[in-house]
Amino acid sequence: MATVLVTGSTQGLGQGAAEELLDDGHRVIVHARNEDSRHGLDDLVTQGALAVVGDLGDLDQTRALAEQVRELGPCDAVIHNAGVYEGAALLPVNVVAPYLLTALLPRPERLVYLSSGMHRGGHARLDGLDWSGSRVSATYSDSKLLVTALTMGVARLWPDVMTNAVDPGWVPTRMGGRSAPDDLRLGRVTQIWLATSDDAQARTTGGYWHHQQRQEPHPDAADRGIQDRLLAALAAHTGVVLEGARA
Ligand SMILES: NC(=O)c1ccc[n+]([C@@H]2O[C@H](COP(=O)([O-])OP(=O)(O)OC[C@H]3O[C@@H](n4cnc5c(N)ncnc54)[C@H](OP(=O)(O)O)[C@@H]3O)[C@@H](O)[C@H]2O)c1
Repeated sequence: MATVLVTGSTQGLGQGAAEELLDDGHRVIVHARNEDSRHGLDDLVTQGALAVVGDLGDLDQTRALAEQVRELGPCDAVIHNAGVYEGAALLPVNVVAPYLLTALLPRPERLVYLSSGMHRGGHARLDGLDWSGSRVSATYSDSKLLVTALTMGVARLWPDVMTNAVDPGWVPTRMGGRSAPDDLRLGRVTQIWLATSDDAQARTTGGYWHHQQRQEPHPDAADRGIQDRLLAALAAHTGVVLEGARA
């Protein structure tokens, strides 16, 4: 049995992943943005999940969220699932929060970050980005390319942690829309597998995965210079340097 934190588990892929992890007998920490969306955790909590609350668009709330998780003891795996598709919160929620939680939580055995096939259309330009979310300065594709570069950077700096990114496919959730063509259940299989499975293939690091198949991400995600500049920009914005990264 593993302890797994799933961010953004009030609905969609995160809620489904948390439910399946509970069914598989794991100890699961679920997460809601605020008290209004917390009702999305009710069934999971009834099934035994532990709940934490915090808006990932807000640095102070993300720090407080990390503290709530720490109080519940170490996690074996974290699935950084929470995400938004548009608006000024794109960078704070999709990139800054996964970075800050990674830097503030005790190192788990495994880290999984939700990317997207759309990261291939993104740009990894760091100049002019507004990490605070006071204005829109990046696209969804940009944010997913950056979180994929973050994944590859963490995998390089922390070789003892199995760190991977997942493209879940285009699935019918609030974000994906009702007519999304891919299978919702299949959309969560890879995250759960990378977070908990003892399969030799799942016990790996530095991968970009789609439906349990390793793929090549956008070359910028694997670019060490881009990873280092991204980590430095996130450290400057949050005031927290990832262990092992250049201060
Ligand atoms: N659906 C797709 O086709 C698709 C494709 C590729 C990648 N993905 C990725 O998969 C992940 C999950 O997507 P989904 O389709 O399941 O989306 P979703 O149904 O919209 O659910 C997103 C989750 O993230 C949470 N969240 C959003 N903003 C937050 C914030 N500021 N603070 C805390 N939590 C926040 C939401 O909480 P609230 O309920 O409070 O808003 C919700 O629990 C995302 O990272 C997404 O980019 C999805």
